[in-house]
Amino acid sequence: MKTFVTGVAGFVGSHLATALLAQGREVVGIDAFTDYYAREIKEANLAPLRAAPRFHFIEGALQSTDLLRALEGVSHVFHLAGQPGVRKSWGRDFASYTSDNIEATQHLLEAVKGRPIERLVYASSSSVYGDDVTIPMREDARVAPVSPYGVTKLAAEHLCHLYAVNYAVPTVSLRYFTVYGPRQRPDMAFHRFITAALTGRPVVLYGDGAQTRDFTFVADVVAATIAASDRGRPGAVYNIGGGSRVSVNDVLRLVERVTGRSLQVDRAPSQKGDMRDTFADTSRARADIGFAPTVALADGLAAEAAWLTPLLAASRR
Ligand code: UGA
Repeated sequence: MKTFVTGVAGFVGSHLATALLAQGREVVGIDAFTDYYAREIKEANLAPLRAAPRFHFIEGALQSTDLLRALEGVSHVFHLAGQPGVRKSWGRDFASYTSDNIEATQHLLEAVKGRPIERLVYASSSSVYGDDVTIPMREDARVAPVSPYGVTKLAAEHLCHLYAVNYAVPTVSLRYFTVYGPRQRPDMAFHRFITAALTGRPVVLYGDGAQTRDFTFVADVVAATIAASDRGRPGAVYNIGGGSRVSVNDVLRLVERVTGRSLQVDRAPSQKGDMRDTFADTSRARADIGFAPTVALADGLAAEAAWLTPLLAASRR
């Protein structure tokens, strides 16, 4: 079974490729090394994959790569490439969101159209919901994103649906809820909070800290993504949430407990584009793909801290 993973050097993409290889699958991975965060971080994610015999790497953007050739013999496509970051998606930066989230997805869908693939799983986001939905969030809620990022993730979801309906491309969209764990991106809350605790620097808390998130451990996301590629209903959308909805204030206390250090908290205004609360109703994913999160927040946070601790120690040497 040959798989194609976009964004393979990223946080979730690299974990997914590792899991696919462990299942004996062949992985063709592509990554453009966009400059949102340092290439060396992505190279570190990629290093163990490059050493694997059934892994093939393509460096390039989806918009400018010969995808027909790359997709030769591929049965399952995992589309995780994109421009992340909710709070950065305003102003001039928006161009990279339209190009890397919408146009890149359309290129991929065009390349896949008419090919005998089993599934194309698209990594969507809880940010498509916005603040106008009932909690827990259901996939059939009326969505109204509050960030330009969320608008682009939703647009790509709609494209996946269009290609499913019009061209029978078996797309499945997964709305990931704030993923964390080892290799988490450096702009994300847990990465910043743990780093601050371990280095004695202050954290910046946006708003009052009472905003809540349904944090999801990366291994649970990977398991859901593989299950969706196997059993997801073509054309469908599924929430993938960790089941532990907590406030950012609670996260700060948990980081202190897990690291054994106290945090100095600097306050900043709440950020435009941030949703107030997220919490996934995962009953559809449970019914169709057998999804059930397994990693508790304290354990997942400890795993992320255990990953960051030697990296931070090495960077101080
Ligand atoms: C995350 C990802 O960054 C998005 O790519 C993803 O699509 C999104 O989850 C999603 O689930 O849809 P976010 O929920 O903002 O976005 O994740 P974090 O960066 O971990 O932030 C969590 C909360 O902590 C937010 O309320 C944020 O305002 C707060 N925060 C973050 C701070 O108070 N300080 C910081 O330094 C960073």
